[in-house]
Amino acid sequence: MANKQEMLLMALAVKQGLLQKEQVQECMDLQAALQEQKNIDLPLIQIAMKKKYLTEEQASNLAGGSMDIPGVGDHVSVDDAARIHIFDIHKEIGQGGMATVFLATHKQTKRKCALKVLFPKHTKNAKFVERFIREGRLLKEFECESIAKGYEYGKAGKENPLYFMSMEYIDGPSIQDLLDRDGPFDEQKAIYVITEAAKGLAYMQERGVVHRDVKPDNIMWATDGRVMLVDLGFATMIRKDLAGQYEDETCGTVQYISPEQAKGMADLDIRADIYSLGATLYHMVVGELPFTGKDSMEVMAKQVMEGLDALKLKGGKISVHMHYFIEKMMSKDRDFRYQTAREVVEDVTEVLEGAADLQYNPASDTSSPFNFALGNDPHASQRITKVGHSTGKFQPLSQGSSGRMKPNGTSVRLPGQSTRSGGSNSTGVRKAIPPNGTGTSTRKPVTPGGSNTSSVRKPITKPGSSVRMPTNKSVKLPPVKKPGDSQRG
Ligand SMILES: Nc1ncnc2c1ncn2[C@@H]1O[C@H](COP(=O)(O)OP(=O)(O)O)[C@@H](O)[C@H]1O
Ligand SMILES: [Mg+2]
Repeated sequence: MANKQEMLLMALAVKQGLLQKEQVQECMDLQAALQEQKNIDLPLIQIAMKKKYLTEEQASNLAGGSMDIPGVGDHVSVDDAARIHIFDIHKEIGQGGMATVFLATHKQTKRKCALKVLFPKHTKNAKFVERFIREGRLLKEFECESIAKGYEYGKAGKENPLYFMSMEYIDGPSIQDLLDRDGPFDEQKAIYVITEAAKGLAYMQERGVVHRDVKPDNIMWATDGRVMLVDLGFATMIRKDLAGQYEDETCGTVQYISPEQAKGMADLDIRADIYSLGATLYHMVVGELPFTGKDSMEVMAKQVMEGLDALKLKGGKISVHMHYFIEKMMSKDRDFRYQTAREVVEDVTEVLEGAADLQYNPASDTSSPFNFALGNDPHASQRITKVGHSTGKFQPLSQGSSGRMKPNGTSVRLPGQSTRSGGSNSTGVRKAIPPNGTGTSTRKPVTPGGSNTSSVRKPITKPGSSVRMPTNKSVKLPPVKKPGDSQRG
């Protein structure tokens, strides 16, 4: 059914002489028929474009370019991208919530690259442009194996300019592609991906940057075995000085965002990414999202308040180690998570190397902030002496933790790398979870504030799908004021 916004746009189009009243009526009839007969909901504006009554440019300029119209300006074609003259565009290779990505060659240097082009509908939004440029700059500055190397970035064309950035082309699928294709990962592969991704996060953290949109779509697994973080579009400086303040716009993807992001807290740090990495790990091994709901509001509320479903994490499907990693990474309270990305790498590696404390029994650890509810879980009561083979899932990497694995599970020998056997990895058992994260943090646990779920408004159209907040499907949490806080806009 046509809604108010659509009708307004149609009226504007008629007023500007772009559409005849009869054409609007025809589009409305078609919309109703599609809905009734095929259960397809298509916005009027898209129907008008499909009927070639309006061009995409006319549609996007209807309200002075200020309105976010679904299906308008949210894709860049190969022909459009060819307007960026310094590149030869070969083909489209990806599409996210902000940009289309192409395989391209830089004409002058002949360098093959991935060329990311901001959706035309965002080019008039100063905030989006600024974020895009920031991403280009960060990628160029960063020198990290786990982050695509940035090359050129800039703006092409004066009228209807295109913003672009080029970077190292990653030959391989995203984790989301692999989930779609093959379903859940076995634990060995999942843990490899997460540890490698954590190395990229550690690099960012050490430079004072938080990613803010870690999820399976934004982690790629190159065929040379490298696991790469992509999409630094929401990356921002870690700002401890904003403690106690709230953002007026929430960034991230609801299915993976940390409770503090869902609440709109402004002093985000790497622990928010660690939560998202945990949610990604959950999705990879369980094969389902940690939280689902009828709309973004419900999912975000669950991120803040609902515990993980123990049934999904236990019962022999997931090893006790995996359960531990997920619970630790996805603790609601960031003080109880790993405090640094390095710690994720080190802890996971330690388990894989079998050097952890053999005596740990989660059931008797009264200081554990996690409710393992171990009950009759065969993994729980048993003292695990072989990390790899007792669970059948947690096998050590054949070349030690610095070896690389390819998406197909075979390992890659790195130049100069010795072939270590994984034999020493077989005795690890989880070590105790310190009562306060790692024990290194002196912060006090954050008291939940702003979990006012009734303030979240826009439902997402596709429950379970990833939603980036600043887009049309976004959900904005209004700033939450704490008693005594000064006023913020
Ligand atoms: N360097 C790259 N090499 C190859 N493919 C890439 C590269 N960067 C991104 N992609 C693909 O393009 C998709 C969208 O890129 P991304 O940076 O996430 O854009 P957005 O900001 O729009 O989400 C990714 O999910 C991935 O599949
Ligand atoms: Mg993305």
